[in-house]
Amino acid sequence: TAQLLLWALIGYGLGSVPYGMIVAKVMGLGNLRQIGSGNIGATNVLRTGNKGAAALTLLLDGAKGAVAVLLARAFAGEDAVQVAALAAFVGHCFPVWLGFKGGKGVATFLGLWLALAWPVGLACCLTWLVAAAISRMSSVGALMAAASSTIWAVLLGFGTTFILGAILTLLVYWRHSANIARIKAGTEPRIGRS
Ligand code: G3P
Repeated sequence: TAQLLLWALIGYGLGSVPYGMIVAKVMGLGNLRQIGSGNIGATNVLRTGNKGAAALTLLLDGAKGAVAVLLARAFAGEDAVQVAALAAFVGHCFPVWLGFKGGKGVATFLGLWLALAWPVGLACCLTWLVAAAISRMSSVGALMAAASSTIWAVLLGFGTTFILGAILTLLVYWRHSANIARIKAGTEPRIGRS
């Protein structure tokens, strides 16, 4: 258990780096808290109008989830891998550096799945793309990707990740409660229209 605790800490440390905030600041795009949804993720960075910054945020926030998984896999067992994956996600959503007010974890979710079980990660990315393309809402893409993730895991032969997948899915839904309320009210902003 001491080893699992260590991987929880490493995962959290990696996940808690708020790349969106850093990218926006370094590129002079302003304070994300005062833009759009106020969220620290790639979707909100896109609302600054800078597509490159949004892509970079997506990449870095995804990579930190993947790195947590790959490091744990290189140095420890499968239990540590799942703990590190969950911890990276939690780190993004609740970073100590931002008073525990972090993001919604979607990029990190996709990144950790790509490293944990790449077919599941790929299926989730495609689900996100299709749902976001149809709805023109990033949050709908995220909610569909999360909802389908455990189904993909079981269908594609990664049943051992089911509990982790279920926990991540619940966390994604919880973090999107404001988005879900806006989707129901018909006020959720569309991609490309800020
Ligand atoms: O990745 C988060 C996305 O699903 C929603 O972001 O800024 O529209 O709340 P936002």
